[in-house]
Amino acid sequence: MSEEHETAAEAEVVEQPADLAPAPRKLFVKTYGCQMNVYDSDRIAEALAPHGYVAVTSAEAADVVVINTCHIREKAAEKVYSEIGRLAKMKRVRQRNGGSLEIAVAGCVAQAEGAEIMARAPGVDIVVGPQSYHRLPDMLSALRRSGHPQLDTEFPEEDKFRHLPPRAKPRAPSAFLTVQEGCDKFCTFCVVPYTRGAEVSRPVSAVLDEARHLADGGVRELTLLGQNVNAYHGAGMDAEVWSLAKLLRALAELPGIERLRYVTSHPRDMGEDLIRAHAEIGKLMPYLHLPIQSGADRILAAMNRKHTVDDYRRLVDRLRQARPDLALSTDCIVGFPSETEAEFRATLDLVAEVGFVQAFTFKYSSRPGTPAAEFESQVEEALKTERLSRLQAVIDAGLVAFNRSCKGRVLPVLFEKAGRQAGQVTGRSPYLQPVHVPGEAGMIGKILDIEITSVGPGSLGGVIVQG
Ligand code: 5AD
Ligand code: SF4
Repeated sequence: MSEEHETAAEAEVVEQPADLAPAPRKLFVKTYGCQMNVYDSDRIAEALAPHGYVAVTSAEAADVVVINTCHIREKAAEKVYSEIGRLAKMKRVRQRNGGSLEIAVAGCVAQAEGAEIMARAPGVDIVVGPQSYHRLPDMLSALRRSGHPQLDTEFPEEDKFRHLPPRAKPRAPSAFLTVQEGCDKFCTFCVVPYTRGAEVSRPVSAVLDEARHLADGGVRELTLLGQNVNAYHGAGMDAEVWSLAKLLRALAELPGIERLRYVTSHPRDMGEDLIRAHAEIGKLMPYLHLPIQSGADRILAAMNRKHTVDDYRRLVDRLRQARPDLALSTDCIVGFPSETEAEFRATLDLVAEVGFVQAFTFKYSSRPGTPAAEFESQVEEALKTERLSRLQAVIDAGLVAFNRSCKGRVLPVLFEKAGRQAGQVTGRSPYLQPVHVPGEAGMIGKILDIEITSVGPGSLGGVIVQG
């Protein structure tokens, strides 16, 4: 599979006579937000590579900058506008000196605020939503032909994956693979159903092809991505609709793939077969990100989460029965409109009770167009800040306790890259903890048993178990 891909890419370059080949343009893709944006940014670079775009590592060195944006909270979106401002200034300076810079805004801010970006940031040349970025090569050509800015924020019928070139050679032994996009849950605080659209699953054969290609290129760990990944329902080769559990079972059979993960899941879509998969698929890592958002039923109902605190507790029990060493992480929002002190404390209690090994905490951020933005009794910023730091303290304590409990244990670690210090290699434990070990580059891509000998604030240290 991978050979076919490489041959196709090479053929495209070789067929062009040298004097007609486009001059290489330097491309910088800057990523904000979630893992799916990281995946999309790779695919944007891959879509442009056959057209003569070579990746560079800074905007300063680039002819074309794509910023792949996040709209989930106000702060994330504001960061984007300040980066656009910085780039527009750079562009004006270059233009004064006879140079140029093309600026494209991709991702969820592009989707949500397309026309507004053009109005607010005149330096922007292209605005392209998350479902249309395969069109970037055409849009850049149209921009140059016409001299006019280009905008595409459609949700096209045709799926972008069919138009993207095959994946490039993987750069690391752990890779993301998008299997599902969009969300039909409509939590009242969340922009995702509007920016990423309705839930769509990629066909099984497309996922397996991409996974085989990644495995052939040296990938050992796949993290399946979707805004609501456990709602996956992809068309199978057998004319059946496949669940995520069935997809995971097929992926576990692929030679080379040693570890599987998936993110992000909704508690409502945690079906019996997926719970069983945690018991039966050894390659499925014992770590699950399962957002709870709040520990109070009234708030969960106002959030339209479609589950109660007790539903969540029961689900965690079933998961732990299936996989006793399962570590859980979660997302929590503090200061959702009308959240009382008692309701916030219920979140604190639930977090302590479940014993998450990691959690991502957010102050509620009012997002235009979402129902909760219109709710009364918005919580004051100072109170949100105070609640966030109290919650963070409980979460940090859980994280420290879990990391300490790993000291003396032997954990299989997948080594991913050279460590920051010379003579050190860094990998990840099954629980996603970074682990630093004395060793050499030959360890990268291998899974080795490591005895954990030290515990730092955000990582573990260890040594290879001899023999
Ligand atoms: N305000 C704060 N946090 C939010 N999230 C999503 N929307 C908002 C918002 N408006 C958080 C949720 C979600 C995570 C990806 O981001 O916790 O699970
Ligand atoms: Fe947003 Fe997740 Fe809720 Fe979907 S399930 S609306 S992505 S928070």
